[in-house]
Amino acid sequence: MGGALLEGWLRLGLDPKTVAVFEPQPASQISALGGRGLQINPNINSLTNVEAIVVAVKPQTAAAALPQLASMIGTATVVVSIMAGRTIRSIATALGRPCALVRAMPNTPAAIGRGISVAVADKPVTKAQRDLADTLLSACGEVAWVDDEDLINPVTALSGGGPAYVFLLMEAMAEAGRKAGLPADLAMRLARVTVSGAGELARLSGEPAAQLRQNVTSPKGTTLEALKILMADDGIQPLFDRAIAAATRRSRELAG
Ligand SMILES: NC(=O)c1ccc[n+]([C@@H]2O[C@H](COP(=O)([O-])OP(=O)(O)OC[C@H]3O[C@@H](n4cnc5c(N)ncnc54)[C@H](OP(=O)(O)O)[C@@H]3O)[C@@H](O)[C@H]2O)c1
Repeated sequence: MGGALLEGWLRLGLDPKTVAVFEPQPASQISALGGRGLQINPNINSLTNVEAIVVAVKPQTAAAALPQLASMIGTATVVVSIMAGRTIRSIATALGRPCALVRAMPNTPAAIGRGISVAVADKPVTKAQRDLADTLLSACGEVAWVDDEDLINPVTALSGGGPAYVFLLMEAMAEAGRKAGLPADLAMRLARVTVSGAGELARLSGEPAAQLRQNVTSPKGTTLEALKILMADDGIQPLFDRAIAAATRRSRELAG
């Protein structure tokens, strides 16, 4: 996820010389950027009062990694964490010094610049710092801001895990097509292109999903027969209600 962000910043024209990456085992793409001036694992003491720090380590690594960052933080620095399940308070405690903190939850389409991040800013974050965090996160797609940090839990459940639900939808549609007689590879191809194409159509048209659904549902037609089952009282909505509630609960548990 950190690599995806870096790629996005470079795409937007950020000079690699202005970026330092701390990463025990840099991927070859990162090492290659060293040739363009990217600072890879520089001496941390050589960096003070940096403009922004983006924390993209695994949450379980936070306790070990965060205290090392403290010396880079100055009065102007904004720290943006994308770690799942780590609250602003726990990050502040681990950093061991007061600073301006933004917590964000991106999702994996970030890798192709088509993710969405939801961010929350702690009180000391200034307008300029929030704008900088917004710019950094928008390199990977859209950004939405919320005021209540607890909302990051349902956000994690909906957009954080969302790509997995969509991939599952592809699998389920393909499997149902196979059971209806289609060759497995054709069924998977149909499901994959249909789900991604419908997603793109929804994005570009801007019409509400319900309207787009109605547009492809002719009265007394075949789609309607399927929708009667999917939209029944025991259809897809109660399943999603339970799934999102379970993931939201788990997100709160992980945050402690
Ligand atoms: N993937 C998602 O869908 C998603 C969505 C939202 C938020 N997030 C959050 O984004 C963060 C990164 O997730 P990811 O899926 O990209 O995981 P990841 O690929 O494992 O990224 C974590 C990176 O941090 C590096 N690292 C480990 N210890 C470090 C240290 N002490 N100092 C500096 N770097 C260190 C890891 O290096 P090694 O490989 O050498 O360990 C690894 O490259 C996580 O906190 C996750 O909760 C992920």
